[in-house]
Amino acid sequence: MANYILRNAEPRDVPDILRLIKELAKYEEMEEKVLLTEKELLEDGFGDHPFYHCIVAEVPEGDQNGNNNAVVGFAMYYFTYDPWIGKLLYLEDFYVMETCRGFGIGSQILRHLSHMAVQTRCSAMHFIVAENNQASIEFYKRRGASDISLEEGWRLFKINKQHLLKMSAEE
Ligand code: COA
Repeated sequence: MANYILRNAEPRDVPDILRLIKELAKYEEMEEKVLLTEKELLEDGFGDHPFYHCIVAEVPEGDQNGNNNAVVGFAMYYFTYDPWIGKLLYLEDFYVMETCRGFGIGSQILRHLSHMAVQTRCSAMHFIVAENNQASIEFYKRRGASDISLEEGWRLFKINKQHLLKMSAEE
């Protein structure tokens, strides 16, 4: 697996990105929660104002001509802002296909994102991890991550569309 490459995702990668999003959701036993379509991914990530960015990991795939590549991993991220510490890189989805794990692709993706965070003067990288994903928690901790839900008591909330519509209609 020495010859994988990392590159910024392009519009042609959208089917692979959605495939990997679904694989990760399946890994987290929440596959049915993925409602997003290729159309939305394309519009949201590759227009004038992208809502997300992706890095993809690609390996050569041995077709008869030996010149096909396969996307085997990805990280979806975006930049956000914390009023106390400023710019943050938010890591959303992060996944390497099972057959390609353990070859350093995930670590290289995190190094790449760390470099980008430093270059853009981000104060930190934030992400959430399912509490039953112990392997991943350990993977992050070995790279310096701390659990701020546990240490600082933050809890993640959401207001769903139904309630957003209700509030917006009250204006
Ligand atoms: N599978 C997973 N990890 C393995 C492994 C295997 N078959 N064989 C060895 N490992 C160890 C490596 O030695 C390494 O240990 P280290 O932390 O001491 O360096 C680590 O697990 C994997 O490192 P690396 O090869 O750089 O990462 P990866 O390419 O396997 O990708 C993940 C890491 C987390 C992206 C990948 O395991 C994955 O997709 N997991 C399932 C999805 C997931 O949990 N995503 C994160 C959601 S928050």
